[in-house]
Amino acid sequence: MAPLQPESLFSKLETAPADEVFALMGDFQADTFPEKAEQLLLDDPTFDHEYLPIPGYAPFYNLARDLIFGTEDSSIPKDRIASLQTISGTGANHIGARFLADHLPHLPTAGAKRTIWISDPTWANHHLIWNLVSSGSSGNPIELKTYAYYHEPTRSLNFDGMMKDLEANATTGDVILLHACAHNPTGIDPTRSQWLQIADLCERKGLFPFFDSAYQGFASGDLDNDAWPIREFAKRGMELCVAQSFSKNLGLYGQRAGAFHLLCRNAEVTARARSQVVELQRGEISTPPSYGPRIAAKILSDPALVEMWKEDLVTMSSRIKSMRRALYDELQKLQTPGTWEHIINQIGMFSYTGLTKEQVGLLREYHIYMLDSGRISIAGLNTSNLKYVADAIDAVVRKTAKPASNGSNGSNGH
Ligand SMILES: Cc1ncc(COP(=O)(O)O)c(C=O)c1O
Repeated sequence: MAPLQPESLFSKLETAPADEVFALMGDFQADTFPEKAEQLLLDDPTFDHEYLPIPGYAPFYNLARDLIFGTEDSSIPKDRIASLQTISGTGANHIGARFLADHLPHLPTAGAKRTIWISDPTWANHHLIWNLVSSGSSGNPIELKTYAYYHEPTRSLNFDGMMKDLEANATTGDVILLHACAHNPTGIDPTRSQWLQIADLCERKGLFPFFDSAYQGFASGDLDNDAWPIREFAKRGMELCVAQSFSKNLGLYGQRAGAFHLLCRNAEVTARARSQVVELQRGEISTPPSYGPRIAAKILSDPALVEMWKEDLVTMSSRIKSMRRALYDELQKLQTPGTWEHIINQIGMFSYTGLTKEQVGLLREYHIYMLDSGRISIAGLNTSNLKYVADAIDAVVRKTAKPASNGSNGSNGH
């Protein structure tokens, strides 16, 4: 019988490099730093499983309000903002839609219906949420219409189309839904000067802005920068509302931590409007969940934790930007037919790649999954899978490319 090997057959193996994202998550889990927000919460003797009040956990929704509206500008007084905790961003969108469908008065031009304007395209749930409330419990229906947003040939913002649509068709008392930053699904935001023109249009035509803020800090890495459009509209004295989510920027997805804020003309109206939103909340969910918002409040109320969070936001947003750049560079290197600059010009987690439904279907053979619209989550890319994804995109684009009549590379099937 052969003697047992003194050493393991694998003793010469080197440690394989860890996957960056999973390693980061593992490091975080293993971190016993007593300042971790969740640990602070568990150590808090006042933490219990009682119901929260109907509007939620006040420290949370007040801190959330300050994060969106800022604390610097005294032209936005806090007593003009009705805030309450919601079932994350989706719940905030819903309760805002329900409230406006029921209570926003319309000053119609004869025969005109009230309209909610949403971008084409938008987060798919906006359609569902507004369709659910469209009959309006006051018997005053609200109709869903889209305004131009995405310019497919250039894969950029169709700003002229958007302004023309709204100028020609929106009427006083209509609601316009705007993504505060990192537009989902296109990843294309207006520039600051375009935002100013949108604000002018809303003011001039008397449109009610409804901001959806699901990615504050995730787009540019700077919380104030990503809230800039909301603050710009607010300081003009306009009435507006905000649906705020902490799913992505605090990673609290399943905890459903969000807030709804309604900015009104004066404190007295604000208090009455808030009582109506609170009543809706009572009828729909009674009282919101307590765990996630308490974690968020632990972070938002502690300057040292806020600083750490800001660093994390810079890390996350920079990683996404570097993945955009790497995918672009790889496609350039492969000379993949078509233009790909839009991948680096877009912002946030998502990219509208411009890939066709057929190409998206073919990518499944490479085990790459994206929406039929060609939207990918850039956050899903990492240094290990990037080359594979680029090679697969290159292969399917070449396979489906129509022969270009002018001898150029063509434009990737659009
Ligand atoms: C534009 C937009 N609004 C709202 C949400 C709401 O997310 P949640 O309900 O998870 O906070 C999302 C999430 O994908 C989104 O992209």
